Amino acid sequence: MADTTDLAILVLAAGAGTRMKSAKQKTLHEIGGRSLLGHSLHAAAGLNPAHLVAVVGHQREQVAPAVEAIAAELDREVLVAVQEEQNGTGDAVAAGLAPLPDFNGTVIVTNGDVPLLRPETIQSLFEAHVAESNAVTVLSMSLDDPTGYGRIVRDGSAVTAIVEQKDAAPEQLAITEVNSGVFAFDGAILRDALGQLNSDNAQGELYITDVLSIARDAGHRVGAVVAPDPSELAGVNDRVQLAAAGRALNERVVEAAMRGGATVVDPATTWIGVNVTIGSDVIIHPNTQLWGATSIADGAEVGPDTTLTNMQVGANAHVIRVHGFDSVIGRGANIGPYTYIRPGTVVGEEGKLGGFVEAKNAQIGRGTKVPHLTYIGDATVGEYSNIGASSVFVNYDGVNKHHTTIGSHVRTGSDTMFIAPVTVGDGAYSGAGTVIKDDVPAGALVVSGGKQRNIEGWVERKRPGTAAADAAAAARDAQPTNDDK
Ligand code: UD1
Ligand code: MG
Repeated sequence: MADTTDLAILVLAAGAGTRMKSAKQKTLHEIGGRSLLGHSLHAAAGLNPAHLVAVVGHQREQVAPAVEAIAAELDREVLVAVQEEQNGTGDAVAAGLAPLPDFNGTVIVTNGDVPLLRPETIQSLFEAHVAESNAVTVLSMSLDDPTGYGRIVRDGSAVTAIVEQKDAAPEQLAITEVNSGVFAFDGAILRDALGQLNSDNAQGELYITDVLSIARDAGHRVGAVVAPDPSELAGVNDRVQLAAAGRALNERVVEAAMRGGATVVDPATTWIGVNVTIGSDVIIHPNTQLWGATSIADGAEVGPDTTLTNMQVGANAHVIRVHGFDSVIGRGANIGPYTYIRPGTVVGEEGKLGGFVEAKNAQIGRGTKVPHLTYIGDATVGEYSNIGASSVFVNYDGVNKHHTTIGSHVRTGSDTMFIAPVTVGDGAYSGAGTVIKDDVPAGALVVSGGKQRNIEGWVERKRPGTAAADAAAAARDAQPTNDDK
């Protein structure tokens, strides 16, 4: 392996990206839950180079902080170099070298808008560059339709120049081997050649591609490595290409999950972000999206129709038709269908949140069940308790949020209202329809509301002529009288 202590990688991200038609800088658009620039920097960092530099320019007030965030994620230094005006790729590389005035090792240049490029491919460019003692090595690719790309001009097998589409002679336009935009350079020769660039070309820009012919004319070795899979080098310039790259990346991530022992029933409708971890014998049903730092432990079953962001799902849990984020689901828990889980929720082992339940900042103990039609917010519930159907944790008084604390082995009746702040002790029961305003001691049965009163004959007297009154009259007439007995 070539020595990466003498390697600098520059990632170019100064361009305007006008075809995105976006207020957001092009390389900050995301696929697989990570920005395009994030993908490029992650791939570059995969080589563990001594120096990693992001070249920013257009909308740098957005891009520079994004680079800082990515550096924190990578837990390494990423230098930010500013290209004041976008005078071409040669000018961008010169800007990228500015923070490294004394560096003369190998310089690899990649782009912030090629998110599918794998570290292994950059590594093989680096290895070939070092092994062949080249001054310049370009990563080329062979395309059926080379339109728009710089053409690799060869003399026999030797690479002599890269000619841009706009500057190419008709016979050069027929060349199908093109420049991917990724290069390895000898640092000293690169610096020297950058000083010789001119903008005497169709676009009036300084082309990094001209370094190749300058180096060759000075008697240095130049070479090309043909990328085995050109789809890795697909650039993102507009939203159509963004979606295509997003799908290609997703195919990779979903395939990795399957190779890791997860069953993905329908890869085409399953979306998994690059920071998601998935165990073995996991089953993922159709229309499932897993984003952020979500993790799915061994044997869990997720979906269909489930979107989880930053969710930790325990082993053997079932999560069906759920929308959840920033929460923890314990081992063997059952969630769904139609459950909404909001931040700060923790469902204990073997716990349950059932149909039409919304939970927020609720810590639910082992084996506790909230099975039906309930809002549980700002609550702590102990172990093996059961919350009756259609209950509400009334946490908001219109100004402040308050907490409800419920013990273990509690049984609350259907339609119980917990008016927070309130505490219900271990083993307590509540009757159906109870409004709990005051604390309930352990082991008590709490009921509220008056004794039930039936006002006989009210409907026939007060609502005569209605269907209800007719039904009541018919029911009265059908009742057996003493005469019938
Ligand atoms: C460039 C190459 C071309 C290659 C193609 C691959 C040159 C002259 N041409 O063409 O041979 O086939 O990429 O996609 O290099 N950038 C800056 N500052 C600038 C100009 C560009 O940072 O002043 C960045 C862009 O943000 C982008 C990259 O450099 O990430 C390439 O620039 P772009 O304008 O897309 O070059 P192409 O014309 O596509
Ligand atoms: Mg381009």
